[in-house]
Amino acid sequence: MLLLVNVILISGFSTVGGQVKPCDFPQINHGRLYYEDRYRPYFPVAVGNYYSYHCNPDFVTPSNSYWDYIHCTKEGWSPEVPCLRKCTFSYVENGYRPSSERAYIQNQSVKVDCYPGYSLPNEQTEITCTENGWSPLPKCIRVKTCSKSDIEVENGFMSEFDFTYALNRKTEYRCKPGYVTTDGETSGSVTCLQSGWSHQPTCIKSCDMPDFENSRPKTNSKWYKLGDKLDYECHDGYENMDGHSKGTIECGYHGWTDLPTCYERECRVPQVGKEVFVIDPKNEKYRVGDVLKFTCRAGLRRVGPDSIQCYHFGWSPNVPTCKGQVQSCSSPPQLLNGQVKGTKKEEYEHSEVVEYVCNSKFLLKGPHKIECVDGKWTTLPTCIEEESTCGDIPELEHGYVEPSAPPYHHGDSVAFSCRETFTMIGHRSITCIKGTWTQLPQCVATDQLEKCVVPDSIASETNLPNKNEFNHNTKISYRCWGKSGNKHSICINGRWDPKLTCTEVKIQPCPPPPQIPYSQNVTTTVNYQDGEKMSILCQENYLIQGAEEIVCKDGRWQSIPRCAEKSPCSKPPDVDHGRIRSSIFPKEGEGRVYPHGTKLSYVCEDGFGISGRDGITCHMGKWSSPPLCVVKPCDFPQINHGRLYYEDRYRPYFPVAVGNYYSYHCNPDFVTPSNSYWDYIHCTKEGWSPEVPCLRKCTFSYVENGYRPSSERAYLQNESVKVDCYPGYSLPNEQTEITCTENGWSPLPKCIRVNSTGKCGPPPPIENGDITSLSLPVYTSGSSVEYQCQSLYRLEGDKKIMCRNGKWGKPPKCLHACVISEEIMEKYNITLKWKERQKLYSQTGDTVEFICKYGYHPTTSQSFRKTCQDGKLEYPRCVKKAGRYYHY
Ligand SMILES: *[C@@H]1O[C@H](CO)[C@@H](O)[C@H](O)[C@H]1NC(C)=O
Ligand SMILES: *[C@@H]1O[C@H](CO)[C@@H](O)[C@H](O)[C@H]1NC(C)=O
Ligand SMILES: *[C@@H]1O[C@H](CO)[C@@H](O)[C@H](O)[C@H]1NC(C)=O
Ligand SMILES: *[C@@H]1O[C@H](CO)[C@@H](O)[C@H](O)[C@H]1NC(C)=O
Repeated sequence: MLLLVNVILISGFSTVGGQVKPCDFPQINHGRLYYEDRYRPYFPVAVGNYYSYHCNPDFVTPSNSYWDYIHCTKEGWSPEVPCLRKCTFSYVENGYRPSSERAYIQNQSVKVDCYPGYSLPNEQTEITCTENGWSPLPKCIRVKTCSKSDIEVENGFMSEFDFTYALNRKTEYRCKPGYVTTDGETSGSVTCLQSGWSHQPTCIKSCDMPDFENSRPKTNSKWYKLGDKLDYECHDGYENMDGHSKGTIECGYHGWTDLPTCYERECRVPQVGKEVFVIDPKNEKYRVGDVLKFTCRAGLRRVGPDSIQCYHFGWSPNVPTCKGQVQSCSSPPQLLNGQVKGTKKEEYEHSEVVEYVCNSKFLLKGPHKIECVDGKWTTLPTCIEEESTCGDIPELEHGYVEPSAPPYHHGDSVAFSCRETFTMIGHRSITCIKGTWTQLPQCVATDQLEKCVVPDSIASETNLPNKNEFNHNTKISYRCWGKSGNKHSICINGRWDPKLTCTEVKIQPCPPPPQIPYSQNVTTTVNYQDGEKMSILCQENYLIQGAEEIVCKDGRWQSIPRCAEKSPCSKPPDVDHGRIRSSIFPKEGEGRVYPHGTKLSYVCEDGFGISGRDGITCHMGKWSSPPLCVVKPCDFPQINHGRLYYEDRYRPYFPVAVGNYYSYHCNPDFVTPSNSYWDYIHCTKEGWSPEVPCLRKCTFSYVENGYRPSSERAYLQNESVKVDCYPGYSLPNEQTEITCTENGWSPLPKCIRVNSTGKCGPPPPIENGDITSLSLPVYTSGSSVEYQCQSLYRLEGDKKIMCRNGKWGKPPKCLHACVISEEIMEKYNITLKWKERQKLYSQTGDTVEFICKYGYHPTTSQSFRKTCQDGKLEYPRCVKKAGRYYHY
């Protein structure tokens, strides 16, 4: 009972005002107040009061002790639940017993490991300590299992060794080569459910992607099951055996029904009129790229192109005709947002050509030259607005530009100049073409311009001297031996322009540009020179595929684009562990199509992250390549004070995906967060869980120089427990708790003699008052406490006292109140002067005024104003008046 001596405080002073709700007698379930009968009459009590209480066997206080204090607070009694059930966990029926017995407190739970084929009721995995003990009881019951013999996989096999599987266990099956699961995978899984295996696994015949020869698939599935069809199309200029550019093959029992192979396409001899002659070459068949030339019989005029080219879509343009009489044309038509280059005439002869240019900001598509053909002009080009602008004008070293303000639109030009003593090489002006400036000229220091020489090989073939050097800008004329006519060139900073040569390269012009299927009409008959280009404009709803310009090179048109229909897309590609973010489209059916330009985005399952852009776009019937959903993996776990089981066997498989888990165990003195010597560690999205897999376990059973706990108990890392030292002893630094750390108790449960030198013990008690804080066993020099008196008692002296050099200052006094007694007043023949204002209770120092009762007068000369002094009050006296009695 030593403990009780300094804990029971029989005081009832109120701390704040009078409004705070006082506390009624506390109802303690499974426990009671010490001396409860003695205290009961004082209830309700004010906030600030506290009492000691104890709990029944099997119950403990929230501080895990058999006794503690209960405080009256503004919110009521604290702790709210003073006695908590304590449950012991030592044995599991049909399961693995814990490594050591441990006690749990009400509301704590612990995981229970059942033997295989057993489980807690309702597949629970934990038991919880409740007011009535464990719930459920630590008792595992037999559960459903599934057997391998209950299942057979057609065209596949079960790939795990175990024979029986407990409820909810998954097992894997694999398909024979050439077969896949219904999801197109080579393996799948089935789960043991209450009703047996989750489903009958099936492996179905499949076809892999075939080899494509001069062709490409039109769908982007990676595998095909029996009966699935695959559409393909031939590359440009190629066709399949049936002469089509598209085809379909089917996945059959013995593989694909056909091969997606395409062969190069050819042009046949074109049909021409009698008066038209085909100049060389005269073949039976022509290959893509071949050019045919025509001429007319003498005296006839050609109407149409002088040559045509064989393309993957056949000959283009159409063959010419020959006529004796041809018509002339009137003025060429107006071009929207463009104009004729040069001056217009009133009339144009057959085969005369005019050139158009577009206004600045507009881009010319189609032939820039049109021809008068037998009284009609060939098709006009189109000027389309080009929105793009060019960035700042590039700087020219040693040069400058006439200032002009942005924006710079398509077609805008600026001209440069070089500073004095520098010479310009290249074009003086640059032009903004579709958002990019053309090439800058150069400013070269005039005294550093390079000179040109004549190479020996040229000197030997011409009349040019080989030793001379020529200055920049020198023009020369020369003659090749055995050839007539002079050739010209100019020296530009060390280079001849054009190159000096005697080899005649006869550069052929190109046939008039072709009419590409589904492009805007072009019926031009004008030939184009080497290096010239023409922009292609597709018809509405068709999209250009390939280069936007065709180029005349080596006498034929090169880089022919296609105008492809803006076809819609079918089902978007599947992404493993991902799905389409719910799209704005209401229905996701097998047959639904997505228009060209549709954008969709993917989201990944939990534990997977998007790799690549999350969106796909439908472009010409094909989806752009979808993202991947990749695992956010966990690296090999670092377990302090523990390790994985079979860690060396598993190590090579790391990092692993979210969802994987491994069993691990902790070293002696350490336990898992579930208080076991082993548990599972899970790879989660946030990393390994538990984060701290092994926690220190500290046992608390003995206190040196202190009161030992009622029962031994183990604490986990970070848990603390209060220690009660013998009087005169304390934990180091006057701590009151020890904490279980990674290295054991800190501080150790060892109470040391308090060095009272310069320190004070508990502050002195006073009558009718107490200190406002809990009393401590030791106070350091300089610390202070404050006193407070009970209601109606008057505090005299300093309410605050200090500990100085081991001694407390003088505590204050609580002076008694005076109770003015009606009895005494009656006896002394007096009454209160101010009955209405005067109270029957007065504090020390208060003045009370009396008067004689009616018909009485003071005995001697005395004061009728009296002061209350520490509970004492001197009353004046009166006696009956002698003789006449006056009535007022
Ligand atoms: C136990 O948990 C329940 C539900 O979470 C809660 O209502 C109750 O207050 C808890 N009891 C104790 C003593 O913590
Ligand atoms: C293009 O030419 C074809 C055949 O010459 C003609 O049928 C069609 O209407 C023309 N289209 C346009 C847009 O001029
Ligand atoms: C107690 O503390 C004082 C100063 O605080 C010191 O001088 C003295 O040696 C201490 N005594 C013991 C027994 O530790
Ligand atoms: C009160 O008055 C009566 C009558 O005069 C007298 O006998 C008595 O002594 C008085 N009381 C005191 C305390 O003087």
